[in-house]
Amino acid sequence: MNSPQAQRIPTTDAAQTKQNERQLRFEIFRYNPLDPTSEPRFETYTLEETGGMTLFIALNLIREEQDPSLQFDFVCRAGICGSCAMLINGRPDLACRTLTQSLPTTIRLAPLPVFELIGDLSVNTGHWMRGMSERLQTWVHTDGEPDLDRLETTMEPARAEQIYELERCIECGCCVAGCGTAVMRESFVGAVGLNKIARLRLDPRDRRDDTAYYEVIGNDDGIFGCMSLMGCQDVCPKELPLQTQLAFLRRKMLTRGL
Ligand code: SF4
Ligand code: SF4
Ligand code: FES
Repeated sequence: MNSPQAQRIPTTDAAQTKQNERQLRFEIFRYNPLDPTSEPRFETYTLEETGGMTLFIALNLIREEQDPSLQFDFVCRAGICGSCAMLINGRPDLACRTLTQSLPTTIRLAPLPVFELIGDLSVNTGHWMRGMSERLQTWVHTDGEPDLDRLETTMEPARAEQIYELERCIECGCCVAGCGTAVMRESFVGAVGLNKIARLRLDPRDRRDDTAYYEVIGNDDGIFGCMSLMGCQDVCPKELPLQTQLAFLRRKMLTRGL
């Protein structure tokens, strides 16, 4: 009797790839707000899946071979710049890090809600992020003028690690798009804004106390508008510990000065 080794039918990589090929159906949101004749709609494109195909590759192929007018954003292709976030079958995520193999054969792509639409899948997250940042004053507030002759301010490594963990945010906007409060209320600063305050609160160079932080997030556009349902943490592609930070901030803002 043949051993299991001997019974195995040899397959080449090419044959295996062929066997795994799928026809993908893309339903892509199309709308150009600058064109008065444009109507919001979904358009359908088909594409043969290849090994290791990401949504970045697929969208570029569609644009190159089928529709040069398709608008979408990519910069780094490595999950670092945050510009490629979109709704992928209804869930906010980074298109450059999403393998088509992880999705069903019908893939519906739409722009992130909340943010200003530039066209098709492209949104202006920068405008929203800047507004949020100015309202929350998301920069280190020091006493007096900075000493420009000093090379750097030293910090305990453990504290620097804690800050680094929260600094990994790439401002992709997924947590805002996945947040019920942010979708309903444009002025809500979202988990991205609250995470920035949590990061500054850890920074020994920032001289603000909890009363000063309360001034910017102690309201319904800040921590008290958060419904704690954690859609933000579920969709954050960088897996930031948003749940812990939001709970911590809420506790601190409720008990400030006590
Ligand atoms: S907290 Fe996460 S989901 Fe939100 S902007 Fe930062 S990286 Fe993106
Ligand atoms: S926990 Fe708060 S910030 Fe996160 S999705 Fe829910 S309401 Fe938005
Ligand atoms: S292209 Fe930069 S995160 Fe996707």
